[in-house]
Amino acid sequence: MHRKIGVLTGGGDCPGLNAAIRAVTKSAIQRGYEVLGIRNGWKGLLDNETVILDRVNTSGIIDRGGTILGTSRVSPLRIENGPRQVFDALERLGLEALVVLGGEGTLSVTSKLFRMGLPVIGIPKTIDNDVMGTNFTIGFQTAVQIATDALDRLRSTAESQHRVMLLEVMGHHTGWIATYAGMANGADAILIPEIPVDRAKLDELCSMLVARNQRGANFSIVVVAEGTVLEGKTVAVPGPDMSTGTEPARLGGIANVLGGLIQSKTGLETRVSSLGYIQRGGIPVAYDRSLATAFGVKATEAIESKRYGVMTALKGNRITTVQLEEVEDRVKTVNLNIYRIAEVFFG
Ligand code: F6P
Repeated sequence: MHRKIGVLTGGGDCPGLNAAIRAVTKSAIQRGYEVLGIRNGWKGLLDNETVILDRVNTSGIIDRGGTILGTSRVSPLRIENGPRQVFDALERLGLEALVVLGGEGTLSVTSKLFRMGLPVIGIPKTIDNDVMGTNFTIGFQTAVQIATDALDRLRSTAESQHRVMLLEVMGHHTGWIATYAGMANGADAILIPEIPVDRAKLDELCSMLVARNQRGANFSIVVVAEGTVLEGKTVAVPGPDMSTGTEPARLGGIANVLGGLIQSKTGLETRVSSLGYIQRGGIPVAYDRSLATAFGVKATEAIESKRYGVMTALKGNRITTVQLEEVEDRVKTVNLNIYRIAEVFFG
């Protein structure tokens, strides 16, 4: 019988997914597998929405943003008989194994399904870089580049108009994008979920901005991750889909709140920008394409040796695998040693 594997992308999209789909497909075909793309994450597996992937339809996609397969946040663990339906689908489609490209949420589900007996391999992807077990996830470096470009642009306008500029970047639970982009731009302050901003920290930030101004540096750049805790609270904006009450709160708007506080406490003219979904779209940078390619090849290697229940990972400069269990229901917070390096240049 012909050996067949499936590949799906779950959770939020990010740049580099197509490079990984291409790598899984082409390397698996070379090893004698047929590859089936599952559309729209776990949802497509349950709804039988598939497409045969081959050398032709995965050519020329290495530089394309998003995912040609589509994605969704549907979890089979939140559906009645979901796991059973997943097992049935694998059998019906004749799949020997499934490659799942996901962030922390999707990979946690994948790990639980593995424990129930599903033959799976995970590949970590998310612009947030908050997946345990790997130094970097696919998509992160592109988001950092986009945020850094935005900060560089904000600097010239801040400098010309002598303003405090705040940029809000993504990062639900962690401040990886804020830390790396802020460091690359030489930001004057970086606020992240890992370090809550209480009244004392806010006063410290304001004093620093005033001191900068007094010594003649008459503009400042502040980066803030959307999930930063300000005086005990995160800030969420009501979005169009919150009306149903079924959607998780959409974080966003902390820069506006913080900008208002800074302006009123310091008297410095302050402006706010939010990057939002721009960070997730478009062409992946070279690093993400290479990482995605290496992860894709590593995943098919693991499939061939029937090493299921693992996730591809970058450890130091080695492409390896870790147990999926390591990722389950955990987030990788910012390495504070790196944050401390960025901090040397604050103020
Ligand atoms: O992909 C992760 C992430 O970018 C978070 O930083 C962000 O809060 C979230 O996705 C929002 O995505 P969506 O609106 O698609 O759920």
